[in-house]
Amino acid sequence: MESQPMNFKFRDPTPSQFDDPKLNVYLEQYWQAGPPVLRGVDAQKFCSDWSKVYGRTAPMKLEIGPGNGFFLAGMAELDSNSNWLGMEIRYKRVMLCARKIQAKGVQNARITRYDAWMVGEIFRKDSLSGLYTNHPDPWKKKRQAKKRLLNREFCVWASEALKEGCSWRIKTDFEQHILSVIEHCEDLPFAITGREDDVNKNGAPWELDIVTNYQSKFREMGLPVYALELTRI
Ligand SMILES: C[S@@+](CC[C@H](N)C(=O)[O-])C[C@H]1O[C@@H](n2cnc3c(N)ncnc32)[C@H](O)[C@@H]1O
Repeated sequence: MESQPMNFKFRDPTPSQFDDPKLNVYLEQYWQAGPPVLRGVDAQKFCSDWSKVYGRTAPMKLEIGPGNGFFLAGMAELDSNSNWLGMEIRYKRVMLCARKIQAKGVQNARITRYDAWMVGEIFRKDSLSGLYTNHPDPWKKKRQAKKRLLNREFCVWASEALKEGCSWRIKTDFEQHILSVIEHCEDLPFAITGREDDVNKNGAPWELDIVTNYQSKFREMGLPVYALELTRI
């Protein structure tokens, strides 16, 4: 088995390390919370054996940037045989996700505060049975392109972290995300197993799905949402 890296770059500062910890009310809440919040520093401790977090061994599904947690909590309920983890960087959204999970009453979901740019620190080879990126920040301007998460490095990581036969599902309002992922994945061990250029009109190209908060905003505006499913071969 591959060993986990000893030196994690992601730092999860405690309130005492902030000049003004009261500035963000969610910071204290985050540090005081128990499950379903999994602090980034604890994710680093448990990442070599996620079953310890959930108290059971089950397929591990990761959603990156879950926002308000509607999709995460809902999917954990629909797919109760999997262990679900949301990875969110913003304190407020971590706490919103925790509330959604608690409101659903599901035991198989956690929300961790972690930077998705460092996801490879806690999910390594063959560790994932599903990956979900819903409406990643678009960074639409050309000069912002380097801030887009779904870059070549992320695609290489996804191709390694997913187990064979498992899928990465993307929904986005920014078509360029789909086009560049397809380009980055051309020589990676992925097959395109689903694609849809208007999920809001035609539904997702896969069975289990939940409309995310951002997706519903685009639906209300009558704008398309694009979807892509890549399966690890
Ligand atoms: C546009 S919102 C989409 C939210 C949700 N997925 C939806 O579809 O409604 C993007 C989300 O990604 C989160 N995010 C942005 N950069 C991130 C990073 N580096 N690591 C983890 N989450 C991040 C944001 O805080 C936000 O919650």
